[in-house]
Amino acid sequence: MNKKWALITGASKGLGFEYCDLLLEQGYDIIGVARNTTSLEQLKNKYTDREVIAINMDLSNNENCFKLIEQVKEKNIELVINNAGYGVWGMFEKSDTMSEMNMIDLNIKSLHILTKEFVKIFKVKNVGRIINVGSMAAFTPGPVFAGYYASKAYVVSLGEAVNLELKKAKSKVRVITICPGPLKTDFWNRSSNQIDATYYSKVKVMSTRTYAIKSLRKCLKTNKSVVIIGKMNKLAKFGIKIAPRKTVLTKMYKYQKER
Ligand SMILES: NC(=O)c1ccc[n+]([C@@H]2O[C@H](COP(=O)([O-])OP(=O)(O)OC[C@H]3O[C@@H](n4cnc5c(N)ncnc54)[C@H](OP(=O)(O)O)[C@@H]3O)[C@@H](O)[C@H]2O)c1
Repeated sequence: MNKKWALITGASKGLGFEYCDLLLEQGYDIIGVARNTTSLEQLKNKYTDREVIAINMDLSNNENCFKLIEQVKEKNIELVINNAGYGVWGMFEKSDTMSEMNMIDLNIKSLHILTKEFVKIFKVKNVGRIINVGSMAAFTPGPVFAGYYASKAYVVSLGEAVNLELKKAKSKVRVITICPGPLKTDFWNRSSNQIDATYYSKVKVMSTRTYAIKSLRKCLKTNKSVVIIGKMNKLAKFGIKIAPRKTVLTKMYKYQKER
């Protein structure tokens, strides 16, 4: 029987690592991509009857995205999770331009390239699912974290549009966007002004493992384009929708500035 492969970007830690673990448990063989994939050795040792291909690659170099596709396209990939991403925090005129361009290359361009190329590959076989990791940040502008919020709005907008194209074409291929709220991962050490993200160590949020289990279960089945897990996140999205834009923006400004 043909092996069933999943490709996960940002596989070395946080949410991506949990997805790799869960997918191996569910019978997938995986291709995990990150700049440093040493941690995937643990999974190779845990699932000795599965294949784990670890690829060290910087996906913010967009040429690498095409190289990656060339490297893996012969595998029977049925699932792609575009998860690698980070944020650049700070007032817009102060945050480092080159860091922001790197973030845009990763959060937007690499996700765009991989989504497009795998939609093409999957459409031919009429099978396959792409899960793009957005964020609750997609639903409102984010003063003091402006570029990151905007990058995640792009992820949601792209995914919803492409998923509708696929449905209209009566394709079985799907692009599902998940929008996590805050998770306690290394994200905050890279994506905030804190050396050691102590703020988030104090906030009570769903564990990354639980979030991965719930979101994966939903994303592998749903016909919806956007998936939100957790009552608080659903409530926040509703609040953002009904509250005056000015109120939401002021709240976001205060929230991000004090972080
Ligand atoms: N944590 C949150 O509160 C939160 C909330 C909403 C959405 N999200 C989104 O969830 C996704 C996963 O974040 P996380 O919280 O799990 O963060 P994380 O623990 O920092 O993990 C990020 C992953 O992306 C990889 N990565 C970073 N830069 C890369 C690059 N240039 N090329 C290839 N891989 C790269 C990292 O590995 P290397 O460093 O080895 O490259 C790591 O595996 C991101 O898209 C993030 O925006 C996070």
